[in-house]
Amino acid sequence: GADRQPIELFNRPSVIAHRGASIYAPENTLIAMETAIAQGADAVEIDVRMSSDGVLFLFHDTVVNRTTNLSNGAYIESLTFEQIQTLDAGTWYHPAFSGVKIPSLVEVLELIKGKVDLYLEIKGRTPGIEAKVVELLIEYEMIDSTTLMSFSRDQLRVIKSLNPDLETMMLIPVFFGSLSEVLDLDYVDSYGLRFDMIKANPEYIQMIHIREKRAYGWTINRRADIQMAVSYDVDGIITDDPLLAIELAYEK
Ligand code: G3P
Ligand code: CA
Repeated sequence: GADRQPIELFNRPSVIAHRGASIYAPENTLIAMETAIAQGADAVEIDVRMSSDGVLFLFHDTVVNRTTNLSNGAYIESLTFEQIQTLDAGTWYHPAFSGVKIPSLVEVLELIKGKVDLYLEIKGRTPGIEAKVVELLIEYEMIDSTTLMSFSRDQLRVIKSLNPDLETMMLIPVFFGSLSEVLDLDYVDSYGLRFDMIKANPEYIQMIHIREKRAYGWTINRRADIQMAVSYDVDGIITDDPLLAIELAYEK
């Protein structure tokens, strides 16, 4: 809101709503993004895939079972966008959200543009997905307000070569060899660490900062964990509970 101190003055981590405000609304839906914006999050994190007919949309899992009304094990990317639009992505979370649809990336960009920053994880591995994402971000003039995230080094390299102005974030999975091995990759601007890794190796944050890169933690939901991440000086907290993270980030 307008009564807030700018982040730079306050030096607090940004609060990034993971899949939207996903403890308050079904993940990766417009209502989850609207909720995050209303709660005052600085940014939203989303998972992006491509439909069989080439439309970019939001969905975390590879199959439909957990977060739609279907339980036939269908691969979400094997469906056309029209078929995807027939799915109910709200009832599994709570009947009050019945009829909530899976949004296209375009719908999300239209909703958040000028309101919050975007942390866009490319989840799908469909060839050409990186170029399509970058094309849309250029069209919506959102290159400067977006960080593109991936677990795949190849994807990050492709993204950086498509548009050097795009901030990239390498996601670091649970079992990972040595962080130093990837710290100097020139196509990586920031690192997204699982919180248990930060907890075990808080010095990773300094190792990243020394290289003038940014360090983020995911997915940090508990009060004590958020406070710990704030004290370790992370640049951003990726959380399902932006409301709580905002309260604690401002306490610093
Ligand atoms: O923000 C990073 C985090 O979202 C990566 O894991 O499974 O929640 O997409 P996942
Ligand atoms: Ca994600």
